Amino acid sequence: MARYAFLITLLFTLNTFAQDAPAGLSVFKAKCMMCHGADGQANTTMGRQVNAANLLSADVKKLSAAEMKDVVTNGKGSMPTFSDQLSPEEIDAVVGYVRAMEKNAK
Ligand code: HEC
Repeated sequence: MARYAFLITLLFTLNTFAQDAPAGLSVFKAKCMMCHGADGQANTTMGRQVNAANLLSADVKKLSAAEMKDVVTNGKGSMPTFSDQLSPEEIDAVVGYVRAMEKNAK
């Protein structure tokens, strides 16, 4: 039993790493970074112009993954809609990447 638990944990870890990290990062670079910046703090020309949210702020941290997914899918204010550009899997991956950024920044 313990061995299975270990294998499942290992698979889950590899899976999370394989999907969220690289896929999330490449989606972020391609679709989010011009406004939200490489560090998520929106210190970019475009980010300042549209008043993009600081992804490391307390307000964004308290969004659930489902709420964040909804914002990315359907847009909000000057934040564009991504349902026509990204698959639900890519949106999950980029939400995972934003969550990882928030964790790594503290
Ligand atoms: C054109 C610039 C732009 C791009 C590109 C962009 N955003 Fe945003 N984003 C915004 C703006 C502006 C807001 C603030 C929206 C508001 O609160 O009215 C925002 C807000 C957010 C929020 C906070 C929402 C909330 O409810 O507080 C998250 C999370 C977010 N963006 C994630 C992303 C992700 C992930 C991507 C890439 C898939 C992305 N954004 C791409 C401009 C952008």
